[in-house]
Amino acid sequence: MDNEKMMKMPMPSIDSVKVAVRVRPFSQREKNSGSKCVISMHSRNTTTIQDPKNPELVKTFTFDLAYWSHSGFEKDKDGVLISADPSSKFAGQRDVFHDLGRGILDSAWQGYNATLLAYGQTGSGKSYSMIGFGANKGIIPNVCEELFQAIEKQERNQEYQVTFSMLEIYNEQIRDLLSGIKKPGGLKVREDQQRGFYVEGLTSVPCENYAQIERLMEQGTKIRTTASTNMNVSSSRSHMVITIQFKQLFPDRDLTKQSSINLVDLAGSERQKSSGSEGDRLREGSRVNLSLTNLGNVISALADAAMGKRVLHVPYRDSVLTKLLQSALGGNSRTALIAAISPADICYEETLSTLRYAERAKKIRNRAVVNTQALMRQWRAENKLPLRCRNSGMAEQPAYLLAEQQLGTRAKQVTWAHLLEQAWEAWEQQYEALAQERRMVKTFPHLLNVNEDPQLTGVLKYFIRPGSCDVGQATSNAITIQGLGISDKHASFTNSDGKVMVTPHGKCKVVVNGVPIATKTKLQHLDRIILGSNSAYLYVGFPSERGSEDLSRFDYDFFQLERAAAEGVSVDKLRATNSGDRKADPSVLAVFQDYIKLMPLVAEANQMSEELKKGLKMELKVKNLASSDSRGYDLQKEVMVKLTNQRTHQVWIWSKAKFINRKFLMEELYQRFLDGEDSHVAQEDDPFWDPVEVIHLGSAHIWLHPLAYCMKLEEQVAFLDCEGLEEAVLHVSITPCSPTGQAYGDEDVVIDPLEMLGKRIDFQICIVQCLGVKWLKEGARRGIQTGYRIYDLPNTIYTKPVWKIVNPQIEETIQFATLNASQEFLNYLQTNALIVDLWGLQEGCAELSCTQPDLMVTGEGHIVVDAKKISTMKDTSQTTSNQTSELYLKLHKLEQETELLRNINRALREENVFLKESLAKLGSGPQAHKPSDTLKITGMTARLPPAMEINQMCTQQASCDREFAKALKVFYQGMNTARGQFLRLRQYKPPEDDQMLRPFVHQQSQMLKDFGNLLESSLWRLKNDVALIVKKKREYLLHVK
Ligand SMILES: Nc1ncnc2c1ncn2[C@@H]1O[C@H](COP(=O)(O)OP(=O)(O)OP(=O)(O)O)[C@@H](O)[C@H]1O
Ligand SMILES: [Mg+2]
Repeated sequence: MDNEKMMKMPMPSIDSVKVAVRVRPFSQREKNSGSKCVISMHSRNTTTIQDPKNPELVKTFTFDLAYWSHSGFEKDKDGVLISADPSSKFAGQRDVFHDLGRGILDSAWQGYNATLLAYGQTGSGKSYSMIGFGANKGIIPNVCEELFQAIEKQERNQEYQVTFSMLEIYNEQIRDLLSGIKKPGGLKVREDQQRGFYVEGLTSVPCENYAQIERLMEQGTKIRTTASTNMNVSSSRSHMVITIQFKQLFPDRDLTKQSSINLVDLAGSERQKSSGSEGDRLREGSRVNLSLTNLGNVISALADAAMGKRVLHVPYRDSVLTKLLQSALGGNSRTALIAAISPADICYEETLSTLRYAERAKKIRNRAVVNTQALMRQWRAENKLPLRCRNSGMAEQPAYLLAEQQLGTRAKQVTWAHLLEQAWEAWEQQYEALAQERRMVKTFPHLLNVNEDPQLTGVLKYFIRPGSCDVGQATSNAITIQGLGISDKHASFTNSDGKVMVTPHGKCKVVVNGVPIATKTKLQHLDRIILGSNSAYLYVGFPSERGSEDLSRFDYDFFQLERAAAEGVSVDKLRATNSGDRKADPSVLAVFQDYIKLMPLVAEANQMSEELKKGLKMELKVKNLASSDSRGYDLQKEVMVKLTNQRTHQVWIWSKAKFINRKFLMEELYQRFLDGEDSHVAQEDDPFWDPVEVIHLGSAHIWLHPLAYCMKLEEQVAFLDCEGLEEAVLHVSITPCSPTGQAYGDEDVVIDPLEMLGKRIDFQICIVQCLGVKWLKEGARRGIQTGYRIYDLPNTIYTKPVWKIVNPQIEETIQFATLNASQEFLNYLQTNALIVDLWGLQEGCAELSCTQPDLMVTGEGHIVVDAKKISTMKDTSQTTSNQTSELYLKLHKLEQETELLRNINRALREENVFLKESLAKLGSGPQAHKPSDTLKITGMTARLPPAMEINQMCTQQASCDREFAKALKVFYQGMNTARGQFLRLRQYKPPEDDQMLRPFVHQQSQMLKDFGNLLESSLWRLKNDVALIVKKKREYLLHVK
């Protein structure tokens, strides 16, 4: 077939996207938190995932390849991870390259375009697979190296041209990673009829060997690191695209073959948990995740189309990334996807979502064609095309066109050779700079950058030469460092007499080993330094101080853990407020991880707020969810962010998801500010603003078991805030009463709550007063409301708002009634607490509504609880006729039995009157009338013991019960006081001042002693009372016998 024909009729190769899954080893964090592996791979293409909450739930996915990199490996002498033994199924970097990398190279040699995408949540191993770490080189370097090795082996009469480009997409902006010049707003994506989408002005460097590509990647990583530190944005939220244009020229056959190889390390795929951010009015505002979200939409649409569904539109144009990947997805490319996953149970949801994503991607079908052209035809075309070439020796995209242009016989400066020559000049400069850096590393103490992304750690080096040098944003400093919270002149380093010292300027933030410093401080080899809000550096001392230590130990996590520890936050501390259980509680560990993750973000947000003059102060808090659990189970904790407007003192509480969402938006706004653009936004679009809200200040637990025994309770309980600290004291009473509101007394106490089963129970809840409300003390123009909800009540009952009084008197009583107490309700009373919430009102916020429109009420107007039974009885439409008649029969029987009991009661009363009369007669004369020992009751005849006996037995029984109830009541009251003491003890925190430690310990031991005494005396008293009752009962029984 002639070449022209081949051009017109390319034979498409129709392939599905090839999908591989790779599971990495546990990270240090996962190991520390005792994670379990939920992934297994039983064959070369199956991946199984187990639900940690429900181990029987196992899902199996089948992909083209499954790489087990989780276990069964060891390090060889060069640090390369290899199989530990022949039976190990471990897949190392070479194995992955063997399938995926070679596949790319084969496609490229054949003239197909090839794309490899790495997808997965942050830290799942995308970059490890694509780029690799140290000796464990990833797919990209291996592909490049083997490409040049293969070129070397080719025949001399062929020519090969390779160009390399590297870009990053963050927040829908493209940054050229091979150009030191940052274009405001980023590079633009253009569309050309022939070429499709391309990046205008992107640097594309001609390369002749692998070493040059290595240098370029190093240079690109440096620019990426600087951008990430300067903007304080995490690289895991940006996509990195490396493109290698590979062209083969066959002059003897008048033919060219070209392949565009796209290697894409995608941004971390974590979904923002919808709970939390869903309520945020600015949820859709951020563009940070737009490209990734849209990539998912494109994949879904293409997968649907491949399954035969009608798809009208594939949204390639909706984001930058999908425009650039148009041919890779459903077009002219052979495409593979590597889904990187974590093995840990804690990542189950994310991993499952990655596997589902990969499953959709697998369905996509591409139509790749060999890109081949006739040389002569190309030359003709080139002569009409303008040539764009930059002085730097770097060519502009698209490289293959450029290369083709250079094939013309025109002037020397446009030849491929000339471009290479220009590139060489740049190489030489770079080699020289690199060699110098290597020499300086060996000579001078220096700072190494530490980034959240391990790929970007240690990339930047700042040397501290003898003498003094200033560090800061201004270019006049010896060391220019940008980043949030770094001032023009931030700090000075001095290197003299074999010592390096650091001195912060003014109030500039400098943290050494987790502790903020204000004065000149001597640095030791391997000290950790944080400048500004979160720019982290490891100090490497003089060569004489250095050993063979492993610097990778001092990663980003190390810095954050150290900082948290200095602020007094640790897993132990979080656990201490828990049950005191020393076991690793996964929920505490998870919340600690959240804390560590959010801590630097909050510091950054505060800095942005300061620079943008938003006047907001953000603080990270750990919320104890047990405070809103009516059983008081101390199970879950959650991090949240408290925001305070420093001028108005208004307060907001944001969930973690909402804060993260807002932080993206804050960064966008801040970037506009840094770029000198207009950073003014309308209030409703401002990520720092929200309407004023009612704030949840704390909750008080009032245990309801006394009510189950028909006992009144009156308590002063603490409202504990989300951190377990006392916010105020609540004075509350719950009084059992008659339907008319008459309070019951001691004699109405029941011994067994079951006695109340099926009966009407009335009780009044009175919120008497709140004492010492901190919220009100802190702001004179504030108010409070309280609210509670009992059992199955559909609404919360709010008390009226009280403003500007520190000890607000509330005195609001509401009577509740259960008409037919159910077993569940009685159980609830015995095991649950009434939670009263304290709400903070602030100027401009809407008060909580006190009206109760939809509640069921009794004839007397009391609110009905435990209404489930009634409503199901009422709901006749749901009851079948059979059930109705059954119910009717039961009811009828019940009525008969009630009638019988009434008759017995009547007869007993008559007997009683008769006995009283007889007694009176006995007192007045010797004649006594023997009462009848049978009762005539309608429908039955009952045998009864003699009336005197009955009377005595009843009196005795009643007296015993009363005494028992009294003993219980006394014991209960004692226990209640003990509980109060215990709560106070729990909240009694050691002082920060060491000198106060002795009085603290003294007071604490006194409190413990009191607590112990009270427990002892209460138990002793109960034992005595019970013994007395038992003794009395025995004596009486003996007497009766
Ligand atoms: N197969 C593996 N074998 C050994 N270590 C691995 C492997 N995969 C990942 N790791 C380690 O896990 C950590 C996170 O990996 P990596 O940086 O590649 O994640 P990522 O998916 O690129 O994350 P991000 O989205 O934040 O860029 C690194 O320290 C890396 O060395
Ligand atoms: Mg990465």
